[in-house]
Amino acid sequence: MTVKFELICRAVYAVGVIAVLVAGIVWLARRHRLIIERVKVLNLDKRRSNMVLERMADGIIAINRAGEVTLSNPAADQICGTRHPFVIGSQIEDTDAHPEIMRLAYECIASGEIMKSEIKLPGWPQRVVSIQSVPFSEDDSGTQAAMVILHDLTDVRRHEKNHKEFVGNVSHELKTPITAIRTTAEVLLGGAKNDPDFVDQFLNTIISETDRLSALIEDLLEIARRDSGIATLTKSCCNVAELVAQGVAVVLPQASARGIVVDVDVPDELVLQCDGSQIVQLIRNLVDNAVKYTPEGGSVSITARRLDECGLALSVQDTGIGIPYGEIDRIFERFHRVDKARSRRLGGTGLGLSIVKTIVVSHGGKIDVESQLGKGSIFSVTIPGVLPAEANNCTISSDI
Ligand SMILES: Nc1ncnc2c1ncn2[C@@H]1O[C@H](COP(=O)(O)OP(=O)(O)OP(=O)(O)O)[C@@H](O)[C@H]1O
Ligand SMILES: [Mg+2]
Repeated sequence: MTVKFELICRAVYAVGVIAVLVAGIVWLARRHRLIIERVKVLNLDKRRSNMVLERMADGIIAINRAGEVTLSNPAADQICGTRHPFVIGSQIEDTDAHPEIMRLAYECIASGEIMKSEIKLPGWPQRVVSIQSVPFSEDDSGTQAAMVILHDLTDVRRHEKNHKEFVGNVSHELKTPITAIRTTAEVLLGGAKNDPDFVDQFLNTIISETDRLSALIEDLLEIARRDSGIATLTKSCCNVAELVAQGVAVVLPQASARGIVVDVDVPDELVLQCDGSQIVQLIRNLVDNAVKYTPEGGSVSITARRLDECGLALSVQDTGIGIPYGEIDRIFERFHRVDKARSRRLGGTGLGLSIVKTIVVSHGGKIDVESQLGKGSIFSVTIPGVLPAEANNCTISSDI
């Protein structure tokens, strides 16, 4: 009986132990599964943060109290243009970090406060970078470290500079004809009105300065419309020969007054899907320049042809003064004139080509310039959107 009882007790104990073991195994298996799940989540989080870090445009460099780089991303190297990249574990002094980055990081670690600064990095084009150093605790003991965030401000500062220059140029260009008109009127009032020779001359000055003023205001309004996005493209089928004829017509009196021959060679059947009024303006501005910057007796020729299956090649060639090589890229900038005095004398404000460029770009085309000083210039525009010959029957937009 006692033996039997003992056997039963042992069996119960064994079952109990097995049950506890099984429960333990189940618990461990669950824990294991949980840990695996957590590791997966952590890996995913790490992958996500690495991806964000690698793809973000701002540069990030974490620096600990000892001055070691503990984290960095490719943008940091790219913005600083470093030959010795911010390798994790390297001493910040051994990298090509700008001294201001180091100063801000160490001051931030010492004071525990956010530090900000802006630097200009050497090189061409010069880059402007904002630095923000933010303190953070690296571990539970609260050891301070600094997270340096680098933001490339080059484009923003360039836009601000261009904007300031633009406003300065506009006020200068507006003031010049107004001052000339006022001075001329004052001279007339001061007695010149009694001399018939002077009266004609001065009144003509007032008329030409007023023309310049209204041309400038028109160009400025055009630029403002484009910048604000109001000037949207209204595309329709346009006969290229018609567009060229309209663009050239405005300039012809000036050309014939100066004995400049204007030759137009455009096939009748060319049809372009475009904003007609804008293309007329483009042609007018290019032909106006060609005539303006060509000495008396010279010639200007305008040609257009189908470029390939669907492109238009338009060129305006002159036998004028030409453009110095170094200036070719700059002539499309607002208010840029190669010879300010000459252009002003001819009534120019330096906005014509910047308008041409925006028209070309908005049509998805491109513009090239070839020029030889004293020999002449060729402005070549290519625009996609030439329709097949049979499209010639489509109605030409009436608002051009
Ligand atoms: N065909 C050309 N031949 C020589 N120089 C040119 C020619 N076209 C443009 N330029 C140069 O480029 C500059 C910029 O041209 P743009 O048409 O923008 O201004 P503008 O003719 O001076 O004035 P606007 O066209 O606003 O009346 C001109 O001042 C001139 O120096
Ligand atoms: Mg011009």
